[in-house]
Amino acid sequence: MYQVKLFNKISKVGLDHLDPARYTCSEDCEQYDAVLVRSAKLHDTQFPASLKCIARAGAGVNNIPIDRCAEEGIVVFNTPGANANAVKELVICSLMLASRDIVGGIEWTKSLAGTPDIGPAAEKGKSKFAGPEIMGKRLGVIGLGAIGVQVANAAVGLDMEVWGYDPYLSVDGALKMSRAIKHITDVNEIFANCDYITVHVPLTPDTKHLINADAIAKMKDGVRIINIARGELIDEDAMAAALESGKVARYVADFASEAMLAQKNAVIMPHLGASTPESEDNCAKMAAFEIREYLEKGTIRNSVNFPNLKVPYEGGYRMCMIHKNIPNMIAQISSTLSAKGMNIENMGNRSRGDYAYTIMDASHEPGEDVLDAIRAIPGFISIRVIQPE
Ligand SMILES: NC(=O)c1ccc[n+]([C@@H]2O[C@H](COP(=O)([O-])OP(=O)(O)OC[C@H]3O[C@@H](n4cnc5c(N)ncnc54)[C@H](O)[C@@H]3O)[C@@H](O)[C@H]2O)c1
Repeated sequence: MYQVKLFNKISKVGLDHLDPARYTCSEDCEQYDAVLVRSAKLHDTQFPASLKCIARAGAGVNNIPIDRCAEEGIVVFNTPGANANAVKELVICSLMLASRDIVGGIEWTKSLAGTPDIGPAAEKGKSKFAGPEIMGKRLGVIGLGAIGVQVANAAVGLDMEVWGYDPYLSVDGALKMSRAIKHITDVNEIFANCDYITVHVPLTPDTKHLINADAIAKMKDGVRIINIARGELIDEDAMAAALESGKVARYVADFASEAMLAQKNAVIMPHLGASTPESEDNCAKMAAFEIREYLEKGTIRNSVNFPNLKVPYEGGYRMCMIHKNIPNMIAQISSTLSAKGMNIENMGNRSRGDYAYTIMDASHEPGEDVLDAIRAIPGFISIRVIQPE
């Protein structure tokens, strides 16, 4: 029976993918095999030795200590693309919120409740909430991953001129991108030429404060900026100064902070990007599937700290091994197995950065002496034996 610890409330649709005959899912267990998490911060959590994988039902993984997990042989998964449509829809809404003062207009109209002749009274004040249309304007999309591509394509559909920038654009992303999108290779071109800029990059040490005072200084006067990705991508001191001077006409973000709430031209939402029932279901389903595939078959798909690997299973005992990506590792594992009289029937190995993952199938069950001999190889992190169905 596998134990799955839930660090957040997870959609029932996802949990239904973990067969209760094989999985116990609870918020209280202490010796668990897997973690299902949404946005709970795990940086200070000490994990039990039994933990094999963490699945984040969502895209960003900055709430998870992924380097420490790699060192401890814990595979971290995310659910790329599962919430992309939900976020795209909020970005389209944000384009409108960045254009006209819709929120201010709604508040003003509400304040008129009880006024005689409320219709004409509301009309009289409307001009101060007016703003431009998005059709024909130039939108810069920074980050063309699962969300950025969908946003860029949708904006093309709304007759915007779309420029996209992503130095690590995947083949998949490029294939999904509308041909109408202009691919930009220098982010400064986006800064200098776009009327609207939206960011869709992960938060990393490299992307923190991607939008800072230097970047804003290069932008058009009256630029409108949308950030539904992560608050720290924006230097808020620089943004506050730019909103006060009018350099940035409006900033729409999905992250609350005192500094931004104090700004009249900032529209701040409470992290609503992926908050749709469809997205929560999609993410939870994908996360549950990733846990199942890894625990039951050793397959790694959508990991952020280990390589993807799927090896067809034809029977026998499957050894799932995590180790450092250093020379001679496979040779040492196979010579240890052959010294113990074991034959490898099938295998796969892939590396990613400092770490590697190896699957070997053998017809005989490796005894504790074999496992201990493998564990003693310098640079070896963990081994577990399964028999996929
Ligand atoms: N507000 C929300 O509720 C919400 C929901 C989902 C995702 N997000 C955020 O949106 C981010 C993007 O999500 P996604 O699903 O599109 O992720 P993704 O991994 O599919 O795409 C990210 C893209 O950013 C690109 N990139 C990385 N560094 C870059 C840089 N310096 N300049 C330009 N491009 C760069 C990558 O190459 C990749 O294509 C997530 O990391 C997450 O932080 C927020």
